[in-house]
Parts: sequence; C-alpha cells; structure tokens
Amino acid sequence: MAKNVIILLGALLMVSNIVRYILFLRTTRDVLSSGSRRDKIWKIVALVLLIFFLIGYVTIALFGNADTMMTMILFFGSVFVSIVLTLMFNLLETAKSRSIEIADVLIGVIDARDPNLNGHSRHVRAITMLFYSYLPGWVKSEINPVSLEYAALMHDVGKLGVPEAILNKPSSLTEEEWKVMRDHPKLGVKIMEPLETFKNIQNWILYHHERMDGKGYYGIENENIPLAAKIIAIADTYSAITMKRSYKNKRSHEEAIRILCEVAGTQLDENLVEVFITIPKEELDKCMPEQINY
Ligand SMILES: [Fe+2]
Repeated sequence: MAKNVIILLGALLMVSNIVRYILFLRTTRDVLSSGSRRDKIWKIVALVLLIFFLIGYVTIALFGNADTMMTMILFFGSVFVSIVLTLMFNLLETAKSRSIEIADVLIGVIDARDPNLNGHSRHVRAITMLFYSYLPGWVKSEINPVSLEYAALMHDVGKLGVPEAILNKPSSLTEEEWKVMRDHPKLGVKIMEPLETFKNIQNWILYHHERMDGKGYYGIENENIPLAAKIIAIADTYSAITMKRSYKNKRSHEEAIRILCEVAGTQLDENLVEVFITIPKEELDKCMPEQINY
C-alpha cells in the first residue's frame, strides 16, 4: 500500500513535469529555438514519452504490485525529470537575459545618436511588458512574451539608418526628410533579416506605425496589423507623450491617457486602449528608465 502511495506521488510529480515541459515549449517557440524540424520532432517525442511514463505510473500504482526497488526507481525517476526541467528553465532564463542584455546595449547606442530618443526604446520595452501582464488570457496566448520583449526593445532599430541630421533636426522635417524617417520600420526589418530567431517579429516591427484607420506609414488597416504591433504602438505612443523631447515638454500621465482615449479606434486599437487605461499610474511611472531624470 505504502509503495503504491509513493508511486502515486511520483505520478503527481510527473503531471507537474508535463505541465512545466509544455510551458517550456511555449516559452521557447519562435525565439530561443533553432526552429529546425529535427528539434520539433525531438520535443514532441519527449512530450509523448513523458505522457507514456505517466500512464505507466498510474497503471502500476492502481493495478501493479511493484517491489521496493521498482517503487524507488519510479519515484526518483520523476524527481530526476523534475531536476532536469528546473535546470532547463534556469538555462533558458540565463540565455534570455544574456541575449536581451546584448540587444539592450545595441539599442542604447541607437538611442544615444538621437537625444530625443534617449531611453525611449527601454521605456517602450518596460511599458509593453507591463501592458502584457494586464492583457486578457486569450491575447497572452497569441503572443510569446519573449518575442514581444525583443520587438518592443528593437522597434526603432531602423533609426540606425536615418541620418543624424534628420534625427536631431530641431525644426520640423521637410516632406523629403519625412520620407526617410518613414522608412525606419522597413530599415529595421532589413537590419534584423540575417537573424533567424527574429523572423517572427519582423512584421511587428514593420507595422508599429500603422493606424487602425489605415492612415499609418504603410497604409495597413486594422485586421492586417499584427496584434503585437498594436500593443507596441500603444506603449510607443504613451512613451512619446510622457517623455521630454528637445521640441516639447513631457506631458502628464493623465494627459497621455486622455490623448490615448481620443485616438482609440482611429489610430490605436480601441479594445487594447481600454485595457491599457486600467494600469495604475504608479506602475507606469516605474517603467521610466533610471537615467532619465527630469
Ligand atoms: Fe518608430
């Protein structure tokens, strides 16, 4: 009887292992995954094996008569899988934070070229991730948060290709200069092209200046704008309003919320703005990068 209880404990641990493994697969899809067919097959085989083991545990616990040795092997087998999964998660976290650190440095260089952008990309990244945590479950399940974080941080990477004379122009831009400026999402995609892991976020970056009414940079309308691009657009707009620029003062949170509500439905996604305005001001304030003091 006691042996069956130990095997059943092992089975419960195996259920949690399967759940954690599925979470691991979800986190590693798109980015931080080689995306190769062979890897996908291995991942599915591993999942099938875990389920197969679980069925074995339950069958033995209910109908079998395992000896002490077998009971221990089964129980510690579950513990072993659990330890391996913990190590995999830790490794994933390390890989994620290391690569985002590299991206963060690169973005810092881009922001530094334009005093008006100073800290903007990091600000948008922090707001986007805070916003993501407030989104309903169905939206979250559609978007990989790791991919979203990279896209938010890198959304203006194309500004690397915009001459500093245009970026830092104190007066308003000419039509010709606007044309160059409007190309920065396309340039961003070009810069990211060689990076296989970022293939899926290219369209998010490309369409971050699109509007619901189709009057954005490339005339893409509502249903054709990726959900993640709509999320980044809201964070980008909030950041642009609440950060100081050489040509304008920063505006208050309340004013930013009023403007977001005003442009909801025409420029920004109405349903998403509805969620965004529920985020407490104090939490949004914490998204401002530390080096920005004014
Ligand atoms: Fe942009």
